[in-house]
Amino acid sequence: MIYVTRREVFSSSHRLFNPKFNEEENDRIFGKCNNLNGHGHNYILEVVVKGEINPDTGYVIDLKLLKTIIIENIIKKVDHKNLNLDVDFLYGIIPTAENIAVGIWKQLIDKISSGKLYSIKLYETENNYVEYKGE
Ligand code: NI
Repeated sequence: MIYVTRREVFSSSHRLFNPKFNEEENDRIFGKCNNLNGHGHNYILEVVVKGEINPDTGYVIDLKLLKTIIIENIIKKVDHKNLNLDVDFLYGIIPTAENIAVGIWKQLIDKISSGKLYSIKLYETENNYVEYKGE
């Protein structure tokens, strides 16, 4: 079994808040990330596919194809967008790195044409990232 990774980047804005909480609670829980008019991140997304090497091609999945799958299903939907308002698969969800990673997983799980989706790693800052493996 071997693991192949495609990295893509995107820039988005978001605001972290829960409409169930009042202003004071949102401020306490989310701090600066609760800024009323949002703020932005340059996200780094890593999609890892695992599988056997196809002896005819030497590939698990053609990385050009994996790139296209990620661009079409994720990047076009999130890049230069407001993650609270513009993205169908995140609508109604607090757009933390955790929730974005799970949303991306759900978008991609059926789209990987060879090999199997293994993990979604999402860097929100240089020092903060989350990883989701479907469970
Ligand atoms: Ni943020």
